[in-house]
Amino acid sequence: MRIGRQHVDARILSFLRAAGGVGVSGSDLAGRLGISRAAVWARIEELRRLGFEITAGPHKGYQLLGAPDRLIADDIISRLGRVHMIGGDVHVFRETNSTNDLAERLARDGAQTGTVVFAESQNKGRGRLGRNWHSPAEKGLWFSLVLRPKFRPQEATRLTITAATAIFKAVRNITGITLEIKWPNDLQIHGRKVAGILTEIKAELDSVRYAIIGIGVNVNLRKNEFPSALKAVSSSLLIESGAVVPRPMLAAEILRELDAAFYKLDNGGFGEIAEFWQRHCSTLGRHVSIRIGERTTTGYAEALDEEGALIIRSDFGHLDRVTGGDVSFV
Ligand code: BTN
Repeated sequence: MRIGRQHVDARILSFLRAAGGVGVSGSDLAGRLGISRAAVWARIEELRRLGFEITAGPHKGYQLLGAPDRLIADDIISRLGRVHMIGGDVHVFRETNSTNDLAERLARDGAQTGTVVFAESQNKGRGRLGRNWHSPAEKGLWFSLVLRPKFRPQEATRLTITAATAIFKAVRNITGITLEIKWPNDLQIHGRKVAGILTEIKAELDSVRYAIIGIGVNVNLRKNEFPSALKAVSSSLLIESGAVVPRPMLAAEILRELDAAFYKLDNGGFGEIAEFWQRHCSTLGRHVSIRIGERTTTGYAEALDEEGALIIRSDFGHLDRVTGGDVSFV
């Protein structure tokens, strides 16, 4: 997918980034974008106002020296490069209730697969099992992806598993941190949660109309920025790596990995995804207790099946197939 003509700022940022520190002249940019030099100058002024550090000299052209740590749709799009389907449409809101709710509204109105909605903060961020998701302003990545997968509702766990592998890879690429994946939707470091996935689907009996994949990543939260109930069980990439992580760069990397992963899933690659997932999963091979509503299953987490369900060998010897629930290690 190419950057659309309407994303002039994204294209300017892409050209400046591709120049790798060498200046790009106003007339060069004007020619490539099909706009006047004055229009280029006006866009550069606007980008500067947004916090991009762009120098200009009579013989040096425009040079991009720095970008703000703010989520800006054109910036994220410009960092994506070539993708298959994610990021054709990127929305960023300063504040919202829940990006899953916004994405669901867009999907209901016909938004294309791959549409992404970020918010700098959420005041009613939702986690699984009716929990809240702490989403303070400009500290994390809180976003939702609209997908229109061509499979049955029973296979929806595949979406969560696929998203988990993409987040795992992106975080490793950008920070060097190796996460652990806890079935089905947690990404942890040393047993503390740094990211979670909330997959919600709208489905008929035999087909998914659309799915909303909500992703929350604790990026630059410090210890004292977690509510006390979360302090012992949550962490952030900043706490674990000791360094502030540039959120726009991580956002684009996660989208790129999600794009590659969902492309693979669409093309019969779930086996490969599941194999990667199993290699980095902290749930398999452990004795676990899973609460599913009022019921609790205890046993040995043996495998993942082709729909993404967890196969548990219960303490009584029989196999249980679990498609959702709250896992704790026994
Ligand atoms: C969980 O681990 O329980 C899932 C957490 C998912 C949180 C994300 S943040 C963006 C999106 N919007 C929400 O309200 N929730 C998801």
